Amino acid sequence: MKKYLVVLTGAGMSAESGLAVFRGSNGLWSGYRIDDVATPEGWERDPQKVLDFYNARRRELLQVKPNDGHKGLASLESDFDVCIVTQNVDNLHEQAGSHRVIHLHGELMKVRSTCDENLIYEVTPEHMDTRIGDVCEKGSQLRPHIVWFGEAVPLIEAAIEEVEKADIFVVIGTSLNVYPAAGLLRYVRKGVPVYLIDPNPVNDMSGRVTHVIQKGASEGVKELSRILRGGNDSK
Ligand code: APR
Repeated sequence: MKKYLVVLTGAGMSAESGLAVFRGSNGLWSGYRIDDVATPEGWERDPQKVLDFYNARRRELLQVKPNDGHKGLASLESDFDVCIVTQNVDNLHEQAGSHRVIHLHGELMKVRSTCDENLIYEVTPEHMDTRIGDVCEKGSQLRPHIVWFGEAVPLIEAAIEEVEKADIFVVIGTSLNVYPAAGLLRYVRKGVPVYLIDPNPVNDMSGRVTHVIQKGASEGVKELSRILRGGNDSK
């Protein structure tokens, strides 16, 4: 039976594809206020600004491709059962060929109704922009299918269930600043190896990381694949 590999990814996973991370001097949050574009209050105040922000993110996503890190994770499916739990709202894991992806923070290429959260629609590259006045079938304004700060994370329970079953756990490209995603590490069973891939030091409050690969996503996943395929769980 294949081992169960669960991977938690963050913005750094897509950095080498050309998408900005959130924190740090070149991060998205240094150019935009979270309060304005990623909270329910921001949406109440100025929905146009919020729609413009996510329309711009969609246009960026169309310009980029999965990097070798995304591809490497997809190819690990030949030797492992793989589940990716991502904080990213891009679809680069899917584009690379990963089959099981849990999007904790929503999906950029989807919008949903503001009166019924179960009414979710895919946007297409041809009709990517959402505008004021675009409504669901019940007549309510459409909003980005994104989990904003201050909102519940509906898929966290599903993610916890997978993390609890992991034989190997991997963290890639997240500063582990945002909960509940960062708290997933606490659900890894004792004795399970936990690899962290990041070119920068990351503060692992859980103390669960056992192996650090201090590299970017592409090189880091290459090294991880070598280690895992060699059946060697140590550094
Ligand atoms: N490869 C791997 N990791 C990288 C790379 C790279 N090439 N470049 C940068 N990183 C790392 C950074 O060192 C940092 O640890 O990616 C991490 C990015 O951290 P954040 O910008 O905080 O992004 P993330 O952890 O995904 O943010 C979590 O916060 O703003 C919200 O909802 C948003 O999902 C996001 C959540």
